[in-house]
Amino acid sequence: MSRAAVLAGVGAMVPPRAVDNDELSQLMDTNDQWIRSRTGIGRRHWADPGTATGDLAAVAGERALASAGSRSVDMLILATSTPNQLMPATAPEVADRLGLGSVAAFDISVACAGFVYGLATAAGAIASGIADRVLVIGADIWSTRLNPQDRTTAIIFGDGAGAALLRAGQPDEPGALAGFDLGSDGSLKDLAMVPGGGSRERSATEPVPETDQYLYMRGKEIFTHAVNRMGSSSARLLERIAWDADSVDWFAGHQANARILHTVADVLDVPRDKVLIHLDRVGNTSAASIPLALADAASAGRIAPGDRVLMTAFGGGLSWGSAALTWPRIQVPGVLSS
Ligand code: UT7
Repeated sequence: MSRAAVLAGVGAMVPPRAVDNDELSQLMDTNDQWIRSRTGIGRRHWADPGTATGDLAAVAGERALASAGSRSVDMLILATSTPNQLMPATAPEVADRLGLGSVAAFDISVACAGFVYGLATAAGAIASGIADRVLVIGADIWSTRLNPQDRTTAIIFGDGAGAALLRAGQPDEPGALAGFDLGSDGSLKDLAMVPGGGSRERSATEPVPETDQYLYMRGKEIFTHAVNRMGSSSARLLERIAWDADSVDWFAGHQANARILHTVADVLDVPRDKVLIHLDRVGNTSAASIPLALADAASAGRIAPGDRVLMTAFGGGLSWGSAALTWPRIQVPGVLSS
């Protein structure tokens, strides 16, 4: 029988400082009622100055290892678009901090779809025999890239990290990743981006606008693409793995906006009470959002062993991806602040 990647542990965290909608409304022209009704978000957590993405990733990784009851890892994949620095990648530093020795460690940059891409990369490495145990971490600190003048982005993004340990196992055991659907459309890269800091940055002889360092997003258009891409990617995956929509116990979609999640669920014919909502307490945590939502629901006993879980994510790139698994019997700690 072929080797499959099996979920062995999950852990997640958000930084301690909670920023509620009322606090935001003192910083910019917005209000709690608008944010809640248009997004479903009540608060988010922002990292304190001096805290970097790798710091959050190491805590989430530690919790996933504790959840799995083992520190044996031979590859670490960190999905992030807000690395500690441009070079080197943040993953080797996280591996070092976790005491994992000289494991393979690398970052992948797929914005909010990064965790699903990380799972797919890990599953490929396990299936091919390149690795036996892979720690996949999704972590982002977008609070340092939010333009305080831009109420489109500042209200939705929060910081956090989530991690999953995958081990080699059998395709028919609980926790085995059942399949993936991945895609991108680079012709629409301008819909969400940080223009500065890369090799396309303007010449140093010209002044670089301060706003180039910030995340820019065309919210309404992104909203429409998020619904279409997460819906079609999920539907393709369900067909590929022969799961009926009504057999899905939990829809774990990228936590950008509750209206997006409910619309995708409607399109798929998945009842709204099966949609995991965690963004009310943490906002849009980008690559961390799916493992954060899973850890929150599993630690609260909502997701139970044997439940079918459909994950789907969408973000800048444009990039999207879906994955599915049957939940295994694992201990998952709550989503705690560091
Ligand atoms: O994670 C990666 C993918 N990201 C996403 O999926 C995010 C997708 N986009 C969204 O979630 C939504 O588009 C936003 C939450 C960003 C914006 O919500 P919207 O319902 O699309 O609002 P809008 O931009 O169409 O604005 C509607 C109105 C406008 O006022 P007028 O022109 O109708 O008078 C805006 O100026 O709401 C106003 N508005 C706000 N008012 C209070 C926009 N942002 C705010 C705000 N507070 N923060």
